[in-house]
Amino acid sequence: MTTAAAFASFVRSSCEGLIRNLAETLDTPLAVLDHAGEVVLGAPDGCDIETARPADRSMAAPIEVGGDSHGSLVALREEPTLAPLLQSLAQDIGTRFGLERDLNHLTDTLSHSCDEINLLYRFARILRSDEEFEPNAHRLLEETADLLEHRLVVLGMASQGRFAWKAGPELEMSKSLSWVVSNQAILESVHAEVGRELREEGVGQQRRAGSLPSPFGVVEYMLTPVSVRSEVAGYAGLFKAADDPPFETTELRFLECLTAELGNAATARELQDELSELLFNVVQSLVAAIEAKDEYTRGHSQRVYQLSLRIGQRMGLPPQELQTLSWAALLHDIGKIAIDGQVLNKIAKLTEEEFQMIKSHPERGCRVLEPIPQLRGVLPGIRHHHERFDGKGYPDNLKGEEIPMLARIISVADSYDAIVSARAYRPARTKNFALDEVRQGAGAQFDPQVAQTMLELAVEGFLPEMEINRNGDSA
Ligand SMILES: [Fe+2]
Repeated sequence: MTTAAAFASFVRSSCEGLIRNLAETLDTPLAVLDHAGEVVLGAPDGCDIETARPADRSMAAPIEVGGDSHGSLVALREEPTLAPLLQSLAQDIGTRFGLERDLNHLTDTLSHSCDEINLLYRFARILRSDEEFEPNAHRLLEETADLLEHRLVVLGMASQGRFAWKAGPELEMSKSLSWVVSNQAILESVHAEVGRELREEGVGQQRRAGSLPSPFGVVEYMLTPVSVRSEVAGYAGLFKAADDPPFETTELRFLECLTAELGNAATARELQDELSELLFNVVQSLVAAIEAKDEYTRGHSQRVYQLSLRIGQRMGLPPQELQTLSWAALLHDIGKIAIDGQVLNKIAKLTEEEFQMIKSHPERGCRVLEPIPQLRGVLPGIRHHHERFDGKGYPDNLKGEEIPMLARIISVADSYDAIVSARAYRPARTKNFALDEVRQGAGAQFDPQVAQTMLELAVEGFLPEMEINRNGDSA
């Protein structure tokens, strides 16, 4: 709303009774004029002030706010004694209009702050979800467009090589805006141009204004870059037809919220990817170290990982737990690193002392991994993968659901793979033999639900194809 419109609205809604009463009391037609001399309010109704020439409006008092004139209060009857009263009333109207304008401004600011907080809260909820970056980025785009209801919001991330856009629900797409969003090459050229400018200037967070000469009229835009680790990774932009209202500061702040959150999320994702890769390499090195000590279990960790993951997926574990299960399954025998290789590879019967040493590998494994904070979640799966559902396992004789679910899954996969693999002291057994063992062990050695899932996967042919040292076995 313009200032003149706000003034007219204020006078009509707040001053009508006052002006009418005073006009009746003084028996003089009164009116409030705006700064262009137009009658905003006249009293009494239908008085000839509407048609009176400016020259006839001899009694007038300016209505000002902070030195700015917004109009005047005039009387048609020339009566010098009225002048102080008109001055006082005009001053009062100006003061009240100023206060109302300040209050409206404060209300708008608070409302925009609330919207901004709301938007950031919704962004945070979206970014905390387990989905990938791209769908999340699109949801952020949609949230922003819903808030900036009269604008077209465009998002382009260099890594995706394309642009997504969303029109606010109240926006009537003009031909010029439709031309922009249907013309990928135009959006790419804007992206390239602004990216080049920012790279040359070495600036990461500046807004960029520009315009495009579409065949249907000029389109103006305002872009803010998405910075990922000091590099420009993409942009979010507001686009409008040239004759649409100008971009407002609040809208640009929302756009900056969008790009800041996207930049943070993309940076976090990159760091997480790097950390995951580092962890993966660490885990692979550790697994290689285990298998270097025990020649008969080569590939065992990898197969237990494949099988555990398949079971976990079938049981509907959430993505985060599947990730933990994967690490735990790969590392379940890591404690064997700390056990004498001669004992691990011994063909003759183990002494009681040697047997106890081998049984200590779950606890030793936890001690090996405890210093790595990112792997703490896998420790229960490692410590308890030799527990039995009936409580007769080790190291803690846990029973039933006291045993962490990840450990119950690894236990079934570990036993199955051990049976179908050759050992120093026996050849590999058949797949059916191993499945019978799983079936018979349900409720005793194994969690019945996990065992059942394993058997279902076998029946349906969903066991992963695993390269096993079968030692001539044809199962
Ligand atoms: Fe083990």
